[in-house]
Amino acid sequence: MTKKILVAGGAGYIGSHTCKVLAEAGYEPVVYDNLVYGHREFVKWGPFEEGDLLDRERLNEVFKKYCIDSVMHFAAFSCVGESVENPIKYYRNNVTGTINLLEAAVNHGVLKVVFSSTCSTYGNPVSIPIDEQHPQVPINPYGMSKLMVEKILDDFDSAYKLKSVKLRYFNAAGADPSAEIGEKHNPETHLIPVVLDAAAGRRPYITIFGTDYDTKDGTCIRDFIHVNDLADAHLLALQYLENGGDSEAFNLGNGQGYSVKEVIYTVQKVTGQKIKIVEGARRPGDPPVLVGSSQKIQRMLKWAPQYNDLEIIIEDAWRWHKKI
Ligand SMILES: NC(=O)c1ccc[n+]([C@@H]2O[C@H](COP(=O)([O-])OP(=O)(O)OC[C@H]3O[C@@H](n4cnc5c(N)ncnc54)[C@H](O)[C@@H]3O)[C@@H](O)[C@H]2O)c1
Repeated sequence: MTKKILVAGGAGYIGSHTCKVLAEAGYEPVVYDNLVYGHREFVKWGPFEEGDLLDRERLNEVFKKYCIDSVMHFAAFSCVGESVENPIKYYRNNVTGTINLLEAAVNHGVLKVVFSSTCSTYGNPVSIPIDEQHPQVPINPYGMSKLMVEKILDDFDSAYKLKSVKLRYFNAAGADPSAEIGEKHNPETHLIPVVLDAAAGRRPYITIFGTDYDTKDGTCIRDFIHVNDLADAHLLALQYLENGGDSEAFNLGNGQGYSVKEVIYTVQKVTGQKIKIVEGARRPGDPPVLVGSSQKIQRMLKWAPQYNDLEIIIEDAWRWHKKI
């Protein structure tokens, strides 16, 4: 029988790409999303159940309707700045919402969860590359909400034997290579789509926040990972839990950083468009370098990134971006 995976937040960017990979691997993704940031047209590989994590009755109804085997949990708010201004919104959605989802899962005997965590749980890096042993000291409510969920998952393991894999992503980027789906956040805060907007003429210029960092070209360095490589890691994490794996946390990045200027130059190369750059001041709270080590998932789950090149990531993102 086809295994059904409840994909909370499956109408969003990373969730929808993962649904495609799940369907290709023979699973049936059942998407649960309130469409606050998701897109109905991204749900193509299984049933769609509109609902909010804060609606416990609706969650129970969906668990009852389908014989769910495991949960993948992408649903969250994830704008760092907004989380500082409105922590209630973030803790309610990301923490209370997750408790509701996990409670419904446990009540229906579903004891395998793959969770979208983030490098924001580490806070300011004290060593680079950041591995899973790095201290987790978030510096904003968004990162804290994700760390709280990591801890809650561990407590659910102790109390209810719920096994989880926490995937701490660095910067997700790129799009489905066939451009069927892609990145569509509103507001868009991620660097690559913002630079692509400038290439497409939808923004007059790009501001670089800080050009005097102690890095190779003075701009911040970030670790971009192709969304399909993330989706593949979810599949491996699910199979790991199906094979009796214990609760674990893994970083997911490409292991090498790219500077903001490198991103802009690569966008210019891929799109053939000249981008107007404005050099601005540093933003508070932006670490100069954020690069993760993904050795652990490579070793334990045999994950190997297939799109480990900035130009490929940007080419795929551009193919999608031209369509929207
Ligand atoms: N994009 C990145 O670079 C990145 C990096 C690290 C971690 N993450 C995490 O990965 C996950 C997915 O990110 P994304 O970029 O695909 O975001 P996204 O906004 O595209 O997707 C999130 C989805 O969750 C849904 N959702 C939010 N709150 C909900 C609720 N209460 N009930 C039901 N549905 C709800 C939204 O409608 C949306 O479809 C998030 O948890 C995010 O924190 C993303």
